[in-house]
Amino acid sequence: MRLHVVDHPLVSHKLTVLRDTGTDSPTFRRLTDELVTLLAYEATREVRVEPHKISTPVAPTTGVHLASPKPLVVPILRAGLGMLDGMMRLLPTAEVGFLGMVRNEETLEASTYAERLPEDLSGRQCYVLDPMLATGGTLAAAIRFLTDRGADDITAICLLVAPEGVANLEAGLQGLEVPVTVVTAAQDERLNEHGYIVPGLGDAGDRLYG
Ligand code: PRP
Repeated sequence: MRLHVVDHPLVSHKLTVLRDTGTDSPTFRRLTDELVTLLAYEATREVRVEPHKISTPVAPTTGVHLASPKPLVVPILRAGLGMLDGMMRLLPTAEVGFLGMVRNEETLEASTYAERLPEDLSGRQCYVLDPMLATGGTLAAAIRFLTDRGADDITAICLLVAPEGVANLEAGLQGLEVPVTVVTAAQDERLNEHGYIVPGLGDAGDRLYG
């Protein structure tokens, strides 16, 4: 597994405002959207393209377009939904599938309550959207879900990650042949006893949707 922390002053600036308790929900939603677009630019560096012939007004030339099958974008409900528009701005022709997952706040175990994904993901590049990688349980389960259906390349975009979650995810994906990359705006200090990222930004789902 590869962890890519995007080091850019605009990313840091937007993340700082996002973290601030004084930031209201409308601003939080807008900043999440903007931040995801910046992260998506980095996350799509390896998106598959194929040659595509066109003619400019001056001469024929060969460029590229997105390869088939198109990438699949998978927001993890609920909080990942707040990241979808920011992602689709860069990949407007991608397909979208949905996974509803929730973490039990006592056991910190993740469970799936909704799923709307193509049955066959053979040869598909998938982009998973989830703002927080805390214990890593949610993301590990989501990635297994996709690779069990044949996805052969996974990139997760998370606003924040905790070092414990990154380590757990790495351990949870042991033996998986599929390449996995996590792109994030920051790796924070630690998890607290309630499974929250410190300093973090609180509960992303609540701050997005109340
Ligand atoms: C939060 C967050 C992640 C998950 C991370 O979702 O959005 O999906 O917890 O935790 P983990 O790494 O410890 O598994 P939550 O379960 O609060 O659901 P929500 O998106 O509906 O708010």
